[in-house]
Amino acid sequence: MPAAAFGTSDFVVVANRLPVDVEKAPDGELIWKESPGGLVTALKPILSARNGAWVGWPGAPDIGDGADDPIPGEDMLLVPVKLSAQEVEEHYEGFSNGSLWPLYHDVIVKPEYHREWWNTYVEVNRRFAEETARVAAEGATVWVQDYQLQLVPKMLRMLRPDVKIGFFLHIPFPPVELFMQMPWRREIIEGILGADLVGFHLPGGAQNFLYLADKLAGYATSRNSIGVRSKFGVVTVGFRSVRVGAFPISIDSAELAATAKLPETRKRARALRKELGDPEKIMLGVDRLDYTKGIDVRLRAIGELYQEGRLDPERHIFVQLATPSRERVESYRAMRDDIELQVGRINGNFGRIGHPAIHYIHRPVPRRELLAFFAASDVMLVTPLRDGMNLVAKEYIACRTDSSGALVLSEFTGAAAELRQAYQCNPHDLEGVKNAIDEAVHQDPEDGKRRIRAMRRQVLQYDVDRWARSFLQTLAGTVDETRA
Ligand code: ADP
Ligand code: G6P
Repeated sequence: MPAAAFGTSDFVVVANRLPVDVEKAPDGELIWKESPGGLVTALKPILSARNGAWVGWPGAPDIGDGADDPIPGEDMLLVPVKLSAQEVEEHYEGFSNGSLWPLYHDVIVKPEYHREWWNTYVEVNRRFAEETARVAAEGATVWVQDYQLQLVPKMLRMLRPDVKIGFFLHIPFPPVELFMQMPWRREIIEGILGADLVGFHLPGGAQNFLYLADKLAGYATSRNSIGVRSKFGVVTVGFRSVRVGAFPISIDSAELAATAKLPETRKRARALRKELGDPEKIMLGVDRLDYTKGIDVRLRAIGELYQEGRLDPERHIFVQLATPSRERVESYRAMRDDIELQVGRINGNFGRIGHPAIHYIHRPVPRRELLAFFAASDVMLVTPLRDGMNLVAKEYIACRTDSSGALVLSEFTGAAAELRQAYQCNPHDLEGVKNAIDEAVHQDPEDGKRRIRAMRRQVLQYDVDRWARSFLQTLAGTVDETRA
């Protein structure tokens, strides 16, 4: 690795994706669009407020020199790490989304392990570390994000021992027995331990990581049980202490609530209800099209509820907004086919001309429009088989400014630990999911209000700024660790 000179940014976020994605128009001009996913939603307001730099991939392979120009319209410094088509195939689609993503999500799909993918993962992590070392000022704080970059903390520490390094995993950290499948398990644990502070959404993930730091890398670890934003674990790596904690991520709740309350959002929400034929109840699903999200589970449940007459396709309609995701990965293609088959079947059985029971959109929806959908919908269906947090659940709650509505929520999301008053269900238990949907659709309005109010208090109090502050203050060593 070349020796690095100091850069000028005091606060640097490093994530696989930049908050904007590039697309090349036929005339060669570069067009920038908002990137998909919860990581970008959460971190954008944090960086805008802190005047930092964001190091990341611009979302398309081989984009050429145009991307060296300053990227327009962002109130932060965006530093693109350009990847070749082969790097995208082996680092992003391969090791990140064909090995790590399914392994960390309870092997819902079988992970594949290929040495070429791993080698490219190492190379791409090195490039991110080098780029970060170039832009970080002396003594800067660098916050490395997520499973695509688990080796960056160690690589960056080798290049720049002067910087403070945080690492946060946005997806679940798996049970020890599953992690042990990983052929390069020790390298990954060592890579993450290059950080000064390692954060997970839930104490359970942090606890699994501590156990593996001892078992796989032989480091001494603390034995205490880890709390939420408190009671951190410690791994002793040579002369360094690495702290390990749980920091559940959140959303910019107040901003969302304020936008949901605007007259134009309300007007659009009313118009949407009208466009959907003024049904008695609108159920809504909003997800990246990902096999972890349990979109198939909710479709099956709704199909059976129509069949059994517990829901009426004339009065109870379902809208699924699905952002295209990772479309070159085979498991994602197969899932898309399966979901579209189910939508077609249910509409064939229960819809009529001009009045489908299920409305399905396979495109990202602009943010304002999305908030209008949240405001217009009576029941939100969030049924992942496994999800690190799930911000959609929190976004829906934030947008229910009149306390109406209902949330059906899988127990296997990080959000379930905080949103206790949701209609929680086990997504593997189809009858349980059906009962939860049935209860939510037919809830007593007063009981519904009590539930939403309690969840709104949680979401408004623990917002994304609090998440970032609690992580960064702990990283800076300025937090009282004994506080629960
Ligand atoms: P993930 O990070 O796995 O995609 P999250 O629920 O944590 O899941 O975050 C998803 C983010 O992407 C949320 O901010 C959500 O509003 C946004 N999003 C998801 N689906 C869509 C969609 N169809 N259109 C627009 N935004 C979407
Ligand atoms: C999740 C991951 C993020 C990822 C996002 C979108 O939120 O935790 O790291 O960026 O999904 O996925 P994509 O593969 O499109 O970046």
